Amino acid sequence: MYQEIDLDKIDISKEPPTEEPARQYYFIAKCRRYVKEFEKQLGRRLTFFTQTFGCQMNARDSEKLTGILEQIGYAADESEEADFVLYNTCTVRENANNKVYGRLGYLNGFRKKNPMMMTALCGCMMQEPLVVEKIKHSYSFVDLIFGTHNIYKFAELFCAAFENRFIANTPKKKGAMIIDIWKDTDKTVEDLPAKRKYFFKSGVNIMFGCNNFCSYCIVPYVRGRERSREAKDIIREIETLAKDGVVEIMLLGQNVNSYGRNLKEPVTFAQLLKEAEKIEGIERIRFMTSHPKDLSDELIEVMKNSKKICRHLHLPLQSGSTDILEKMNRKYTKEQYLGLVEKIKAAMPDIALTTDIIVGFPGETEADFAETMDVVRKAEFDSAFTFIYSRRTGTPAAAMENQVPEDIVKKRFDCLLKEVQEIAAGKAMKYTGSVQKVLVEHVNEQDSHLVTGRMSNNSVVHLPGTADLIGKIIEVRLTECRGFYYIGEVK
Ligand code: 5AD
Ligand code: SF4
Repeated sequence: MYQEIDLDKIDISKEPPTEEPARQYYFIAKCRRYVKEFEKQLGRRLTFFTQTFGCQMNARDSEKLTGILEQIGYAADESEEADFVLYNTCTVRENANNKVYGRLGYLNGFRKKNPMMMTALCGCMMQEPLVVEKIKHSYSFVDLIFGTHNIYKFAELFCAAFENRFIANTPKKKGAMIIDIWKDTDKTVEDLPAKRKYFFKSGVNIMFGCNNFCSYCIVPYVRGRERSREAKDIIREIETLAKDGVVEIMLLGQNVNSYGRNLKEPVTFAQLLKEAEKIEGIERIRFMTSHPKDLSDELIEVMKNSKKICRHLHLPLQSGSTDILEKMNRKYTKEQYLGLVEKIKAAMPDIALTTDIIVGFPGETEADFAETMDVVRKAEFDSAFTFIYSRRTGTPAAAMENQVPEDIVKKRFDCLLKEVQEIAAGKAMKYTGSVQKVLVEHVNEQDSHLVTGRMSNNSVVHLPGTADLIGKIIEVRLTECRGFYYIGEVK
């Protein structure tokens, strides 16, 4: 494991090794020497700032990048005036792209004041060739661009960018942007450092990429084909996390229900959960995201019988209309979705069900939208992320006829949001007065006399308490429900 490697003993006068992860340790060691030298000259620490856009997967990737930066010797900073600024980007909807361009414009001002400042961009948006072209032309100050498939190579890429900027007599041209984007890979590299945001909980990647090609979605193009990590590597990582004080894990994948199919010895997601459950110290297991077409009876059974798997299932609906679902390439009907919801609720009456819904997919009629509203009422989601359809260049839906006019989409969106919120508020009430186990996560941002935590079903609870409760699972009486969260007190 990486904790056992003495970076200062690695001989950087030799050629870098070709095998991973040894190669990356070599570059971490090399950068460490540079950083020490520069810090001596400047008489201060070099600092970094990272900002993550998008999903849990990106958040976990950022923890890995942060872990490497800290090993290199940079110190974390809260400000974008840091010496190294990294944006880990998302491209699932157009507005995610616009946010990044906005940040880059803002950065340019700081850059002029700090000659040590380096900037890097990574993540899904960088997998789009047009985006990279735009950055090359409009934001030529960026030092490094890499994608989603080669984040494990970050130390090597960072080293090249650092040498490019600050080290003379290296073969690379001074000032040139380092761009390393891979279209796809079947490689997963284990045992690199990661810096967790929370000491008591952690995301764990179980698979990368997606094979589903929902017609609106850009993810399969930017994250590549589905590949699962070996179960033994996942279990070993969770065991290490448990030893390190982690009590809650979130297993991450674009479609966790198809986990293990491409392994030499196939394993099902339900089997993986059963193994993870055996690990001492792990008290809670969450996972994200499930595709309705692949959610098995075996998984429902394992969840039902488990004391550790949280009572929460995120099951994206996307649309309630069977016609639209077909155009979306979702491979289930309205009735199949509702049947699945019924089965899950019958097995686990206390489950919290959440979902994603897209409004305004091409060709969506009033009748289609009414079907979505019907499913929302019948499924009674505990919460729902609602999205306005965003046309993503290169996806089949972008070329479809009958794109829905903006004003109609907006009206439908407002109507859906109102319904979703009313149902969610009504459902939240039901636990008022009961005692629930709560994992305390942080001191409340608005009121330092309160701490904030989550129930097994993911509901948020605020209660009087101090920082020493963080990371503990405690029994809390829920005294009041305020719409989307509870107020409680230690039992
Ligand atoms: N437009 C709007 N929402 C989208 N999503 C994915 N692609 C698009 C798009 N083109 C939503 C889906 C998915 C969630 C992560 O983002 O609902 O489940
Ligand atoms: Fe996108 Fe569909 Fe894959 Fe989810 S399952 S990442 S919506 S293509």
